[in-house]
Amino acid sequence: MQEIVDLRSDTVTRPSPGMRRAMAEAEVGDDVFGDDPTVRRLQDHAAALTGKEAALFLPRGTMANLVAFLSQTRPGDAIILSEMAHPVLYEGGNLAMVAGLMTRTVADPLGKMSAEQVAEQIVRTNDPHHSQTTLAALENTTNRGGGAYYQYHEMEEVAQVCRSRGLRLHCDGARLFNACAASNIEPEFYARCCDTVSFCLSKGLGAPAGSMLAGARDTMTRALRFRKMLGGGMRQTGVLAAAGLYALENHVRDLDEDHRRARDFRRALEAEGVGFALPSPTNILYVETNDPARGIEELSTRGVLATAAGTDRIRAVFHRDIDDAGLNRAVEAFKEVLAPRRQSPNEGATGKMTS
Ligand SMILES: Cc1ncc(COP(=O)(O)O)c(C=O)c1O
Repeated sequence: MQEIVDLRSDTVTRPSPGMRRAMAEAEVGDDVFGDDPTVRRLQDHAAALTGKEAALFLPRGTMANLVAFLSQTRPGDAIILSEMAHPVLYEGGNLAMVAGLMTRTVADPLGKMSAEQVAEQIVRTNDPHHSQTTLAALENTTNRGGGAYYQYHEMEEVAQVCRSRGLRLHCDGARLFNACAASNIEPEFYARCCDTVSFCLSKGLGAPAGSMLAGARDTMTRALRFRKMLGGGMRQTGVLAAAGLYALENHVRDLDEDHRRARDFRRALEAEGVGFALPSPTNILYVETNDPARGIEELSTRGVLATAAGTDRIRAVFHRDIDDAGLNRAVEAFKEVLAPRRQSPNEGATGKMTS
């Protein structure tokens, strides 16, 4: 039987053999007492990589965002995000329910925020009618924006607006290393623009779980308290931290190959008349179709998994568990299901041509 080609997300990556060995051999302690040496090593490494004073290991990117918000705002404050940001769409309303925050959202097809858009959303006044805007949070790369990334100057311009108006800036860098690979910008430079930055170890980097949040020491002291409140402290979690360290040391360099395969996938399908909804400079692609539910069903019968996104597109995400053979199978399956010239007129094409 042929293996499934799973393009639903880069979270489906499995630990590589080397990573499994590193996990098995990890030296551990009780991290809630702060004495797991592998977690400490990972936190020091993440702080050094981002040029921040301290970093904290958390189970999920969702918790990293929430802890960043809790640590830098007060209930009743407002926070600026893209209307497509992960915390707005996919974190269960936690910023409203747990952090007590209002959202002021910015519209952009790539899920990015410009300095002007952020400036327009800031409300800082003594007038008690208004919620105070105290934080902006941008995503790099953007999930719903097709893996778009920030140029350094774009992020720095947002940072300048935030600094000048007394706001903090958080970067949800769930896929920060994809952004770095595509832009040739070191994580430290992106992080320099932001008060806090998070990144996930469990997506394209291939670890089974874990995210990092980095920032100044006093912010991270608050972050530790909130992680505790949310039940996010783990015990002998050096086993997971070892996977994270292994990923940072060995898997970051493979992200370029994921991006190359994403480009090859797109080129092959565009040549067959398949349309793409957004530019896809990293590993996330949105393939146009007028029937995403049927599209993913038909793909799955060909052993290829993807996700329906909204009413007009299918999301496909490339990652380290998709090799060239997987890429070729994905291209063939998408061609069969979506390419207009492969379908007979009475088949009811799910594909949609773009000009
Ligand atoms: C941009 C972004 N932020 C945060 C998260 C949350 O990460 P996790 O699934 O580890 O909670 C995701 C997950 O896909 C994401 O895409």
